[in-house]
Amino acid sequence: MRQDKWMKGACCIMVIGVLGLISACVQVQENQTGGTAPLVPEQQVNVDAQAQAAKDAAALNPYETEIKPLTVDQCGQCHPGIFQKIKEKGERHRFQCQDCHQQLHSYNPLKQNWAEVMPQCGSCHKELPHGKAFTACLECHKDPHMPLEIAMDKNLVASCGTCHTQPQAQLVQFPSAHSQQECTACHSKHGLIPSCMDCHSPHVPDQALESCKSCHPVHKPMQVSYNDSEASNTTCGSCHGSVFKEWSGTTSLHGQVTCATCHDTHGKIPDCQQCHTAPHDAKILQKFPRCLDCHINVHNLPTKAK
Ligand code: HEC
Ligand code: HEC
Ligand code: HEC
Ligand code: HEC
Ligand code: HEC
Ligand code: HEC
Ligand code: HEC
Ligand code: HEC
Ligand code: HEC
Ligand code: HEC
Ligand code: HEC
Ligand code: HEC
Repeated sequence: MRQDKWMKGACCIMVIGVLGLISACVQVQENQTGGTAPLVPEQQVNVDAQAQAAKDAAALNPYETEIKPLTVDQCGQCHPGIFQKIKEKGERHRFQCQDCHQQLHSYNPLKQNWAEVMPQCGSCHKELPHGKAFTACLECHKDPHMPLEIAMDKNLVASCGTCHTQPQAQLVQFPSAHSQQECTACHSKHGLIPSCMDCHSPHVPDQALESCKSCHPVHKPMQVSYNDSEASNTTCGSCHGSVFKEWSGTTSLHGQVTCATCHDTHGKIPDCQQCHTAPHDAKILQKFPRCLDCHINVHNLPTKAK
């Protein structure tokens, strides 16, 4: 406060000093030009004089100026924290402060008018982006200056399944050990996708993460399906070691058929005639209905000695 007063005093003295100098200059100029022919054209003299008059007036009256709207960086000079938030995490809210803050500095604690003077999300977001279930925007988008910084608090956790209906439905419809996990056990931050390897070891060393997802849809992991059939033989072998050993050592043509071509669903036993229609005389097959009575081992068919 004291310093303020001192500053004001100093300013006054400076203004008086400047005014003194200006009047001295004007006097000198009058003396030089007095009486004789003008050194500069008359028009120029007029312009100079007008400019000078405006300057003088401004010096005497600081209100002789036009106010320009505050720019974002000027808001930022007084609100550096908010400026920085928007700069770094404002996302698609990186526009003029006053596009949102149409009334400014009008909060009055006596009137308790905060809600009234603060921007309303609905003035721009005309449609409810998440449907009618979600109207209290600031419950989740806690800071409009960082609209996508969303805390994993109870508001959000209670509603995962309302917005993401499919994962929720799959976990319920296809019970697995994952159905017993909270969404947040895996998605510890909103939008974060964990790696399967955070919690599991692969079946075989160096197994690619993408392959896990192709066999195990994560929200119904026991609905195993094989899209990745070429790469999966060793995966099968990690649990079915003895079959894998037989199959990989066979000289029969079944050694060129992948596990998943025959077992297209986990646990399913294929019918030979799915692939071999009428291989023999109907009479023989009537007498010996089981193909493997003669062909013995599907994973290692006896073949003709060569
Ligand atoms: C997308 C709209 C939007 C933009 C852009 C925006 N604000 Fe805000 N701002 C709001 C809303 C809404 C609130 C009220 C938040 C609340 O009530 O919790 C607010 C609150 C504030 C507050 C008071 C609360 C606090 O966090 O201190 C200040 C100060 C503020 N804004 C300054 C600014 C400045 C400065 C800028 C530009 C650099 C800016 N705002 C840009 C929407 C916006
Ligand atoms: C000269 C400094 C200064 C400038 C420039 C300034 N503010 Fe403020 N503003 C303040 C102070 C001081 C407060 C009250 C204390 C606080 O909330 O930080 C305030 C409060 C606010 C508030 C909350 C209270 C209310 O009544 O609205 C908002 C919103 C706000 N400013 C937005 C802005 C925006 C937007 C700009 C630029 C257009 C801006 N301010 C420019 C100093 C300034
Ligand atoms: C002055 C207009 C305006 C206001 C007020 C406003 N927004 Fe926005 N908001 C936009 C625009 C424009 C976009 C980008 C385009 C879009 O998504 O519609 C946006 C985008 C967003 C996004 C997505 C951000 C991104 O980068 O993907 C969120 C979240 C959001 N707004 C939430 C809010 C919330 C919550 C409020 C109220 C606190 C609010 N907005 C107020 C104009 C506004
Ligand atoms: C229950 C919490 C919650 C509520 C309430 C909520 N949102 Fe959101 N909103 C989210 C989440 C979570 C996202 C996704 C953020 C992301 O992409 O990381 C989001 C995204 C958005 C987006 C970006 C959409 C997109 O697809 O890019 C906009 C815009 C938005 N919200 C606006 C609003 C508005 C306006 C309201 C109020 C009418 C609101 N939200 C209420 C949680 C909420
Ligand atoms: C208000 C609606 C809303 C709520 C509540 C919500 N989300 Fe989201 N979520 C979104 C939106 C919008 C996106 C971004 C658009 C998209 O990819 O679907 C998103 C994105 C995600 C993503 C990333 C998707 C991807 O493809 O990368 C995950 C994971 C996610 N949410 C999980 C959750 C979990 C877990 C919860 C509960 C803790 C939750 N969400 C609550 C709306 C919501
Ligand atoms: C056991 C861990 C786990 C649990 C539990 C889990 N998720 Fe996921 N979630 C994942 C993984 C891993 C991915 C990535 C899958 C991918 O890339 O194919 C994912 C993807 C997602 C996605 C984006 C892709 C999509 O399918 O839409 C959303 C949204 C999502 N989860 C929401 C949820 C919700 C909501 C819950 C709870 C109801 C939940 N998750 C429970 C691990 C989990
Ligand atoms: C945050 C930890 C976590 C993540 C991430 C995770 N899981 Fe799991 N998963 C578990 C837990 C806990 C179990 C039950 C105990 C166990 O078998 O280890 C489980 C069980 C399983 C099961 C057996 C299910 C049953 O009902 O027996 C499969 C299959 C599985 N996870 C596959 C995956 C795949 C594939 C991914 C990646 C897409 C993944 N998990 C990501 C925690 C996780
Ligand atoms: C070729 C398909 C395939 C691939 C690729 C695959 N799995 Fe599996 N996984 C299975 C089958 C089949 C089971 C056995 C399911 C059963 O018991 O019914 C299984 C079982 C599991 C189980 C249950 C626990 C156990 O070991 O018995 C977990 C956990 C698991 N897989 C995780 C993973 C992870 C992590 C990856 C990626 C590194 C992965 N899986 C890749 C097919 C696959
Ligand atoms: C994580 C270990 C694991 C993996 C990987 C695995 N399985 Fe299995 N498999 C099992 C278990 C456990 C059973 C159930 C055994 C039972 O019911 O007797 C089973 C059952 C089977 C059965 C049925 C057996 C019968 O007697 O009816 C077949 C066929 C089978 N698996 C083929 C495969 C194929 C093909 C693959 C690779 C695509 C594979 N499995 C990957 C663990 C696994
Ligand atoms: C040409 C088709 C074919 C191929 C290739 C094949 N299987 Fe089989 N598998 C069968 C048939 C048919 C049966 C049933 C045999 C029976 O009824 O005795 C069977 C049975 C099984 C069984 C259960 C009986 C047992 O022997 O344990 C397992 C496990 C199995 N296969 C795993 C595999 C694995 C792992 C591979 C790849 C290494 C594989 N299969 C390749 C057709 C095939
Ligand atoms: C998914 C398809 C499929 C199934 C199921 C299947 N096979 Fe084959 N099999 C083949 C293919 C492919 C060959 C290679 C020659 C050909 O194209 O016919 C073959 C070849 C054979 C051969 C000749 C072997 C050789 O090395 O010359 C015999 C014998 C045979 N299969 C018997 C069976 C029997 C018995 C079953 C049931 C237990 C069976 N197959 C199930 C696909 C299949
Ligand atoms: C009575 C014994 C017997 C029965 C039962 C039998 N097979 Fe054969 N099969 C043979 C003999 C022997 C051959 C000739 C072996 C050879 O030439 O190497 C053969 C050859 C085949 C071939 C190879 C044909 C070729 O052109 O090379 C296929 C495929 C085959 N059988 C499939 C089947 C299927 C499928 C069944 C059940 C529907 C079946 N067999 C039942 C004895 C049998």
